[in-house]
Amino acid sequence: SVLARLVVVSNRVASPKERAAKAGGLAVALREALGTRGGLWFGWSGETQPNPSDTPKVFRSGRVTYALLTLDPEDQRAHYAGYANGTLWPLCHYRLGLLSFRRADWEGYRRVNEHFARALLPLLQPDDIIWVHDYHFIPLAAELRKRGFEGRIGYFHHIPWPTPDVFLSLPSHAALVQDLSQYDLVGLQTEDDVRALLTYISSEARGWIAPGGVVGLRERRFRVAAFPIGIDATAFVRDAKASVGSDEERRLHESLAGRALAVGVDRLDYSKGLPGKFAAFGELLSRYPQHRSTVTMMQIAPVSRGEVAEYRALRRELEELAGAINGEYAEFDWVPLRYLNRPFQRATLAAIYRTARLGLVTPLRDGMNLVAKEYIAAQNPEDPGVLVLSRFAGAADELTGAILVNPYDIEGMADAMNAALLMPLDERRERWQVNMAKVEGNTIHDWCERFIHELSGAIDHLDNPP
Ligand code: G6P
Repeated sequence: SVLARLVVVSNRVASPKERAAKAGGLAVALREALGTRGGLWFGWSGETQPNPSDTPKVFRSGRVTYALLTLDPEDQRAHYAGYANGTLWPLCHYRLGLLSFRRADWEGYRRVNEHFARALLPLLQPDDIIWVHDYHFIPLAAELRKRGFEGRIGYFHHIPWPTPDVFLSLPSHAALVQDLSQYDLVGLQTEDDVRALLTYISSEARGWIAPGGVVGLRERRFRVAAFPIGIDATAFVRDAKASVGSDEERRLHESLAGRALAVGVDRLDYSKGLPGKFAAFGELLSRYPQHRSTVTMMQIAPVSRGEVAEYRALRRELEELAGAINGEYAEFDWVPLRYLNRPFQRATLAAIYRTARLGLVTPLRDGMNLVAKEYIAAQNPEDPGVLVLSRFAGAADELTGAILVNPYDIEGMADAMNAALLMPLDERRERWQVNMAKVEGNTIHDWCERFIHELSGAIDHLDNPP
């Protein structure tokens, strides 16, 4: 029923005090979602301690009760840096060359899920709707079921689901899908992701699939469907409008001295295609010299997951690339690439997006990419900028008004940047309107409502498949 309490589980919890919104980000989206409806938010406290307690720290802020659990340091490492971000993250982003699998990590990952289930169970009421977020907690439903919880549990996977040939590289693939089957509803970002998972279930796991994404796997029935995530469009439009004439906006304009701005905002992650984006900007300056001294690129890339070696290596690579581009093309009064390794508040990002003639979102793979949607929402409708978007971002399904690029094609991306910089106002407006209709037509609130609605009805629905 609509009155049931919502229980959200995620690894990161955006604390009520935290104001700096990290680029994109699941925690920020969940804060919008929970803030409206209220409920319990269960997650990691961000702290570690040997022999941690099963009792979470509980406190209330507004309509949300927070329950935060502390983890054993060795388990936390195996869970977060090990299996979640050393195994599942590269796997789901199609980077088998970066995948590492160790049984000890898999065991630590399961132990953290057990610990979460033990700590969550005493807080649950039978009518609660439990909504688990992301790849850190795939086994959580299985652990809750083992301990007797029979209520509704849904899972949303914020990142891509890989096709079976890629997914089969994971030594624990069968156990992981067995774990997924303990949910009542499994949400993915796009129809491609749904197809990938269903193909695995029918061809590898010997499950059956009925219309509407209803799946039978051993004794379990559950549903798999696409729920593309959105943003709080109204809030972004408001922030972007409010930024006009602000101190920060004025400083930004002064610093640009009439030059066009191209902006990228990504966590410093190898899935985001940052080296290719830098190279494409270098290629633009090399092959289209008319843009030298007339365009400035700004890449905001907050450092992420420094405990994983691949992320540290990427940081060094980008520092070298940024230095090389600036060394080669800078003038005494123009620095081509501004590279910033820290997060910014939403109001500041909104001002930067609105000022930018180009939004550069070029991940090699991305579940959705909310920066693409934020960039659209922040534009001035009379004089909007152009979004250059990777075809491998989930957002490319909806944002058909963007210039779609293949992020592996550096020269193609440089051509797309050139075309975007030269694009006449009429075409910019038309493309922006197409994108804005999509962003406003599927907000974070719509996403949340739809998932909760379908999860609420999930059990009845599974008893009477269509
Ligand atoms: C992605 C993931 C989230 C994660 C976020 C930040 O958006 O889907 O689950 O929280 O990145 O990464 P971090 O490792 O810092 O939590």
